[in-house]
Amino acid sequence: MADTATPNVIRRADYAPPAFLIDTVALEFDLIPERTVVRNTMRVRRNPDASHASNFELMGEQLEFVSATIDGAPFAQAHAHEHGLTLDNVPDSFELTLTSICNPAENTTLSGLYVSGGNFFTQCEAEGFRRITYFLDRPDVMATFTVTLRASKADYPVLLSNGNLLEEGDLPDGRHFARWEDPFRKPSYLFALVAGKLVALEERVKSGSGKEKLLQVWVEPHDLDKTRHAMDSLINSIRWDESRFGLELDLDRFMIVAVSDFNMGAMENKGLNIFNTKYVLANPETATDTDFANIEAVVGHEYFHNWTGNRVTCRDWFQLSLKEGLTVFRDQEFSADMAGGATDEAARATKRIEDVRVLRQMQFAEDAGPMAHPVRPESYVEINNFYTMTVYEKGSEVVRMYQTLFGRDGFRKGMDLYFKRHDGQAVTCDDFRHALADANGRDLAQFERWYSQAGTPRVSVRTQYDAAQQRYSVTLTQGYGDTAPAARETQKGPLLIPFAIGLIGKDGHDLALQLEGETRASEATTRVLEFTQTEQTFTFVNVAQEPLPSLLRNFSAPVIVEYDYSADQLAFLLAHDSDPFNRWEAGQRLATRELLTLAGRAATGVPLQLDDSVVAAFARVLTDETLSPAFRELALMLPSEAYLAEQMAESNPAAVHAARQFVRKRLANALRADWLAVYEKHRTPGAYEATPEASGHRALKNLALSYLAELDDPAEAVRLASAQYDAANNMTDRSAALSALLNASAANGGSVEAHQALDDFYRRFEKEPLVIDKWFALQATQRGSAQRPVIEIVRKLMAHPAFNLKNPNRARSLIFSFCAANPAQFHAEDGSGYAFWAEQVIALDAINPQVAARLARSLELWRRFTPTLRDGMRAALEKVASQVKSRDVREIVEKALA
Ligand code: TRP
Ligand code: ZN
Repeated sequence: MADTATPNVIRRADYAPPAFLIDTVALEFDLIPERTVVRNTMRVRRNPDASHASNFELMGEQLEFVSATIDGAPFAQAHAHEHGLTLDNVPDSFELTLTSICNPAENTTLSGLYVSGGNFFTQCEAEGFRRITYFLDRPDVMATFTVTLRASKADYPVLLSNGNLLEEGDLPDGRHFARWEDPFRKPSYLFALVAGKLVALEERVKSGSGKEKLLQVWVEPHDLDKTRHAMDSLINSIRWDESRFGLELDLDRFMIVAVSDFNMGAMENKGLNIFNTKYVLANPETATDTDFANIEAVVGHEYFHNWTGNRVTCRDWFQLSLKEGLTVFRDQEFSADMAGGATDEAARATKRIEDVRVLRQMQFAEDAGPMAHPVRPESYVEINNFYTMTVYEKGSEVVRMYQTLFGRDGFRKGMDLYFKRHDGQAVTCDDFRHALADANGRDLAQFERWYSQAGTPRVSVRTQYDAAQQRYSVTLTQGYGDTAPAARETQKGPLLIPFAIGLIGKDGHDLALQLEGETRASEATTRVLEFTQTEQTFTFVNVAQEPLPSLLRNFSAPVIVEYDYSADQLAFLLAHDSDPFNRWEAGQRLATRELLTLAGRAATGVPLQLDDSVVAAFARVLTDETLSPAFRELALMLPSEAYLAEQMAESNPAAVHAARQFVRKRLANALRADWLAVYEKHRTPGAYEATPEASGHRALKNLALSYLAELDDPAEAVRLASAQYDAANNMTDRSAALSALLNASAANGGSVEAHQALDDFYRRFEKEPLVIDKWFALQATQRGSAQRPVIEIVRKLMAHPAFNLKNPNRARSLIFSFCAANPAQFHAEDGSGYAFWAEQVIALDAINPQVAARLARSLELWRRFTPTLRDGMRAALEKVASQVKSRDVREIVEKALA
C-alpha cells in the first residue's frame, strides 16, 4: 500500500466545548454563479464553559477571503488558510463581519452552495456551511439567522431561506432581494437557501392549536403535475406528529424544494427542506407504488426532524443517531400507521417486514465488515462516511426497543420528558436514554451497550419440555460469534435484549403464558422477556402440551436468532403463527436454508433438487385467500442474492444465483396454474389508486408475472407482459412488465419484445429524468447471460447521451445498480466488474467524493468471498487506494485493505 500519511482521525473522547459562541448571524448573499459574494455579520462572545483561547479559529473551505472587521473597524490580524480563518487576540465579546467569495457554478461536490439546473441550492449537513462562509461549523454552536438574498430578478425570481419572509423588493440593474428571518436558534448545518425559477403547489392548513400554516412544494415549472402526493404526505405528517407525539409545527410556513442534483435523499433544513426530486415528484404515469411509499416516508422523515433534530439537535456528530435513529423510527411508525392504523397488525407487519429486510441485508452486512461501528461511533475520518445503515437503521431499532420495553405510553412519556428537558439544546444519546429511563422509573445503564458495541448479536435458543411437570423452559444465550475485528474491540458484555416470545399449540393457536413465579397466565399471548445475562433460562408453567416456540416476534431486537427448527416446524409456523412477522420469517428461514444448501451444491457442481414439501409450503401461501396480497407477495419473494451470499462461509455469487434461479424456475413450473390464476385475479383495472390495498394487488400480480417469466417456455409470460406493458396506466405495471420481458429473454440475449419495449420506454419518458433513471437501472440489474454479459451493456450505456456522471441519481441508476444490485454479473470471474468499479470510483472521486465513497463501499466485504474473487477485489482496491485524493474514499479503501 502507498505510504500515505494516516489521515486525521476525529475521536468522540476528544470532545471539548467551543471556545467561542455565536449568538446571531446576519448573512447577505449577492448570488452570481461563478462568484457569489457572502457577507457574514456575527455577534460573538467567549464561551463561559470553555477554556480560554486568545485566537478565534473559524472553519472555511474553498473560500476566497476578502475582509474582516470587528465592531465596525477593519481587523488586520486575520489569516486565511486551507482549513479556515484565524483571528488573533480578539476581544471577549464583539461583532465580526467577514466577507468572502465562493464559486457555486464549479461546485460539483453538491456540498455548500451549488448550481443545479441553473438554480442555486445549498446542502450544509454535515460540514457544508464552511464552504459558504467562515464559521464555527459544529452543531453545538446555535444562533439565530437573518438572511438577505440579492440576485437577478429575471434569472432567479424566487428567493428562499429558512423561517419567515420579512421583506422583498426590487433593486437597481434588474436585481431584487428578499430578507428572511428564522426565529429559532439553530446550528449551521440547518441553514439553507434556494434561488431560481421555481413554482409551488400551495396549501393552507390549520395546526392543532388553530394557527394557520402556509405549506409549499417548490419544483421546476414542468414538474408541478407531480407534487400532489408530496403535499398530501406533508399534511399527513403534520397531523400524525400532533396526534401521536403532541408535536406541532412551530413556524408559520413550511417549504419543501425539489432538486435533481442531490447526494442523499433529503435534508431537514429548518422550515426549508430540500429534497432529491426522487423523493418528491410522483404521478401514476412516472412513479411506482414503491416510489409513492418512499416519498411518504421521506417527507415524513424530514418533517419529523423539525422536533427530533432541529428543536433538539446533536452536541457533536458522534451523536448523529440521536436524531437519525429516532427520526427513522418515527417515520417507520408513521408509515405503519398510514398503512394499518394503530391496530391492524397484519397491515403494519408489511411495513415492518420491509424495514427488517433492509436492516438484515444492509446493516448486518455493514456490521460484519471493516466499516463496522457502534450506533454511536468512537471515531471517524470523514463524517459523511458515517451516515450509515448502522446509525440510521440499527439506531432506529435501538429506539424501537425502548417502546417494546415500556409500551407506547411509556415511550411517549419518555419523549415528553426529553423535550421538556432539552428543547433548544444540542445534546447526546445519553441524554435521550436518561429521559426514557427517568420517565419510566428504570435504570437503563446496561442498555447503553446498544450504543457502544458494534457487531450483530446472536441469540441461541434451547428449549425443553417436561410433560410430567407441564413445564417448558427456554434457555437463551447471547454473544457475537465470530465478528469482524472492527466490531470485536467494542464488545464488552451482555446486552439488555427485549425478546418477544409466544408458544404455539398443536392446533396452531397461541397458548396461555405463565412464567414460573406468576400466579396466573397473562391475557397477552406474546411476552417480552428481558434477557440481560449471557445465559438465562425462562420457565413457563402449566404448559399442557409441548409447544412450538415463536421467537423474537415482530423482530423485537436487532439480533440473529439461532434455533434448530425442522422444515416441518417452519412450514407449520408459516401456516399458523399469530404473529404476522414471524409467519413471514418462517418462510424466509425455510427458503434460506434450502437456498444455502443448493448454493453449496452449485459451488461444487452437484446437481440441484428441491424437496416437494418446500414447494407445497409456498403453494399454500400463494393460494391462501385469507392472507393479504401484500403479505403474500412478501412471503413468496425469496431472500436476495446479496443476503444469501453473505450467509455462506465463502460468498459465491455465481452459486447463489444458480441456486436461487433454480428455485424460482422450480416454483414457476410446479405452480404454473396457480401463478396464472393469481395473475388474473389481482389485476387492478380502471383508474389507478395509490391505496395500500391496490398496491398490494399490483405487487402480488407482478410477482406472479416475474415467476411466470421463469417458465421453461416463457411464451405465455411474454404475451402477458407485452399486453401489460402496452395497456399500463401506471409506472408500477409498466416497469414490472418491462422487467419481466428483459428477464424472460435473458438466456437468448433479449427478445424482439424486450427490445421494442425498452425503446418505447425511453421515447415515452425522454423528458422525465427520474423515469430514465429507471430505464438505466432496469438494464443494469437485468439477468444477462454468458453470451451477453451485463458489463457490456453497462459500458455501452455509459456512452449514452443521457448518461451523466455528475448527476448522482444517474450515476446510481447505472453504476451503483450494476455494482451493488447485480451481484452475479458484477462478480464475474474475469474481474471485469472490478475493473469497471475502480475506474468509476476514481472518476467520481474527482467530481463528488461523497458519492464516490458510497460506491467504494461495494467492495468492502471482499475478504469474505471465494479466493479468485478475493484476489480480483484486492487488486481493484489497491488500484483505487493508490490514486484517490479525497479523504472520503481514502477512509473506505484503507479500512477495507487494513
Ligand atoms: N439529515 C439528512 C436526513 O437523513 C441526511 C442528509 C441529507 C445528508 N443530505 C446529506 C447527510 C448530505 C450528509 C450529507 O434526513
Ligand atoms: Zn434524517
